[in-house]
Amino acid sequence: MKQTIDLDINGENRQLQIDCHRTLLQVLRDQLRLTGTKEGCDTGNCGACTVLADGKPILSCLTLAVEAQGKKIVTIEGMANHGQLHPIQQAFIDHGAIQCGYCTPGMILSARALLDRNPRPSLQDVKDGMYGNLCRCTGYTRIVQAIQAAAAKLAQDRGT
Ligand code: FES
Ligand code: FES
Repeated sequence: MKQTIDLDINGENRQLQIDCHRTLLQVLRDQLRLTGTKEGCDTGNCGACTVLADGKPILSCLTLAVEAQGKKIVTIEGMANHGQLHPIQQAFIDHGAIQCGYCTPGMILSARALLDRNPRPSLQDVKDGMYGNLCRCTGYTRIVQAIQAAAAKLAQDRGT
């Protein structure tokens, strides 16, 4: 059955006709062509499909698109500001925290949610906060370093 839904994606209202059973991941990638959000396991185990809903990380492969109505959805395409990479994105590049890149969008969105709720995370806080995001390439050390560096840069930018 088709349904018309309104989604707030990266600050833009998008009205779409969708099949009711379509996941947010499918709608983002296949209908909106926002292919930065990755499909890994499609079973809620890898975190590659992570996006933010009202600032909280959600797994878009386990979320029906209809459930995302009324929430502010942020995908990796919404992280940069007027062409300027978000400090977390820049830190991932600077610290070599990307290899194949498949996990990176989900990692960055989870890191953003973590730093929004805990601007000065300890090493353990970072590890705990990123628990649901798997990476097959990097061994995680550089990812953790990048998130700590981004936290320091954001604190500097805030003047705290
Ligand atoms: S694709 Fe959603 S958790 Fe793996
Ligand atoms: S960089 Fe390849 S899965 Fe993380």
